[in-house]
Amino acid sequence: MMTREELKAAAIDMLDRAYCPYSHFPVGAALECSDGTVFTGCNIENAVYPVGICAERTAVFKAVSEGHTDFVRIVVAGRSDDYCVPCGSCRQVLQEFAPNIEVICLNKEGQELALPLKALLPYGFDNSFLPHEAE
Ligand code: THU
Repeated sequence: MMTREELKAAAIDMLDRAYCPYSHFPVGAALECSDGTVFTGCNIENAVYPVGICAERTAVFKAVSEGHTDFVRIVVAGRSDDYCVPCGSCRQVLQEFAPNIEVICLNKEGQELALPLKALLPYGFDNSFLPHEAE
């Protein structure tokens, strides 16, 4: 298992992998699974702007595609004064697999704001709203 500080360092390391020539806003993520496996991610932009993807979703999609869906915590690292919080789409994607995940947001100093996803996405829409899933 990585320590909290090691997980934070893994997210910060990913800032250098960010491909963000349009926004110049690098983001790194480190996603920890219940068995200790860690998947990292960075944002990956595109000349067709909406096609780009956030660091958090890069990490989640890497994990799911490798057979991991049981997520415990995610660190999101940015280089801004503000804590780097996940966007609405990433909150929704995290909720699909890990509604109780802890989200640890870092600023450029490496200081953290840690919140449960439920605080970032209250009243989230999930598959319990879909009649055919509730059967
Ligand atoms: N971005 C992330 O990767 N994660 C966040 O939590 C916030 C935003 C990316 C998307 C885009 O590449 C750049 O940051 C500016 O929005």
